[in-house]
Amino acid sequence: MSSSSSMVRVLTHPLVRHKLAFLRQRDTPIAVFRASVRELSLLLAYETLEDLPLMHAKVLLPDGTQAAVERMDEAQICFVPILRAGCGLLDGMLDLVPSASVGHVGMQRDHVTLEAEEYYFKVPDHIHQKCCIVLDPMLATGNSADAAITRLKQAGAKNIIFACLIAAPEGVALLQKIHPDVRIITCSLDEKLNEKGYIVPGLGDAGDRFFGTN
Ligand code: URA
Repeated sequence: MSSSSSMVRVLTHPLVRHKLAFLRQRDTPIAVFRASVRELSLLLAYETLEDLPLMHAKVLLPDGTQAAVERMDEAQICFVPILRAGCGLLDGMLDLVPSASVGHVGMQRDHVTLEAEEYYFKVPDHIHQKCCIVLDPMLATGNSADAAITRLKQAGAKNIIFACLIAAPEGVALLQKIHPDVRIITCSLDEKLNEKGYIVPGLGDAGDRFFGTN
């Protein structure tokens, strides 16, 4: 399903390419845009959780005998959307892991300096014991992702993965430099950033398109 280097994984599955095309298309209706984001977040969750350790358990089979099974400890997972666009990825992730906890990091970017400023932070207790999946559809300059990950680490998080729909090489380079321990999973690695900090070719403003605010 994917091509990978050690810490950056770019999904290459035809379904991912196909769904991304709906997002990139300018006149995709909002309902189709949202449905495509949700479907992509399912595929992204599948890949993101690939290395999660499993617990051994036993189940009773219909014939009354016991069988050894493996289960995921859903409580070990904490999804952390970066507000507000990251919320678009959350529903699909929770479809697959409904008992995961959810933290929120509010970051807004200054449109002149492109620096990230935190305005909200709330994560579950015992964050140091959880696998934190930070969600943001676009990894552009990397400033918001860096600020969110740095803040999570300050709160005690040790195991962090960053999941996005589209990444720019600039954002990937920044995260790899500052947070070499954080794996990046993306549906696409695009060409570059433009002078306004938008990803090229990208899909425009992910939050505006998802929430219908442009
Ligand atoms: N945020 C977006 O929504 N789109 C971009 O291209 C970059 C940052």
